Amino acid sequence: EKGGYDHFMLKEIYEQSRSIRDCLRGRIYPEKGKVQLGGIKEYADKLKNVDRIIIVACGTSWHAGLVGEYLIEEYARVSVEVEYASEFRYRNPIISERDIVIAISQSGETADTMAALELAKEKGATIFGICNVVGASIPRITHAGVYTHAGPEIGVASTKAFTAQVTVLTLIGFYIAQLRGTLTKSKLIAYLTELDQIPELVEQTLKCNEEVKKIAAAFKDASNCLFLGRGSSFPVALEGALKLKEISYIHAEGYPAAEMKHGPIALIDAELPVVFIATKNSSYEKVISNIQEVKARGGRVLAIVTEGDTEVRNMADYSIEIPATDDAFVPLLATIPLQLLSYHIAVMRNCNVDQPRNLAKSVTVE
Ligand code: F6R
Repeated sequence: EKGGYDHFMLKEIYEQSRSIRDCLRGRIYPEKGKVQLGGIKEYADKLKNVDRIIIVACGTSWHAGLVGEYLIEEYARVSVEVEYASEFRYRNPIISERDIVIAISQSGETADTMAALELAKEKGATIFGICNVVGASIPRITHAGVYTHAGPEIGVASTKAFTAQVTVLTLIGFYIAQLRGTLTKSKLIAYLTELDQIPELVEQTLKCNEEVKKIAAAFKDASNCLFLGRGSSFPVALEGALKLKEISYIHAEGYPAAEMKHGPIALIDAELPVVFIATKNSSYEKVISNIQEVKARGGRVLAIVTEGDTEVRNMADYSIEIPATDDAFVPLLATIPLQLLSYHIAVMRNCNVDQPRNLAKSVTVE
């Protein structure tokens, strides 16, 4: 059932080209510049006029929500707030009938996420779900939703569900952009044409596996690790850190790269691996200065770079290439080497990759 892989986690990492393709199927028409989301189309008017979207989730799903915030604000120009479900539900949040509250949950059963949604519904908001498990509790209480269609995820650490959630949020961003006219038809055509290529680019990205494994051997004895990125690569850094800590038990933190000098920089020494997402996108030059700051303090740098990059490659101790793509889709590719890095480190440390200690696949109690 592991399809020849040693662990479900590795199998699920490798499934991502397929799972993203399934998630896109029937939803994008690149040549027409059109996104179609059957699950929420009844709410098209609401989406067109919405002033604020609130995303509630926990853990990895919350990280996907943060990527969604960048995408929806950038392309659809709607204000987005992303909240930990557990905090949102207990702080008497301000919600009105004008709001759309979106819950993201792989299992569709997470107690805090469910309760946050119930609260929002009570206050009159329109509630949507982005879930993977069909017919779970969350999709049953929502007004509408979009399934991720990643297929069953067995490994406790979420991998293909995360990239599918990000894919759905990307689709929602472009869908609202289409409704509101915040992107021209030709822009939409260009974005959707590139999005259609992502499963192929994911396939290419997965070829980094052997390279990542070598780097994992160099990092496996670390006791701490820092993950840094800017823009939508910041939540990718958070996700990279969460993956590493949950399956390898190495303490890791994700930060926006520019925040480093407000504290974490004090940690940097020759022992501390610092992983940068340093692809050739809008924040490239800024990230380069952050890498220089780490190198100047003797830190060990692993950089995720765009294919063909030489500048960062020369600066970093280790680098992994991913294919070039638009800013909008970098999270879908940059996440993959980080998943593989955690996986290999955990295997080398003899950890129970699919069933890490103290963790459950679905958290049905608060
Ligand atoms: C991390 C992980 C957890 C879940 C979180 C939310 O790899 O799996 O952080 O993301 O418990 O679960 P769902 O998405 O089922 O609500």
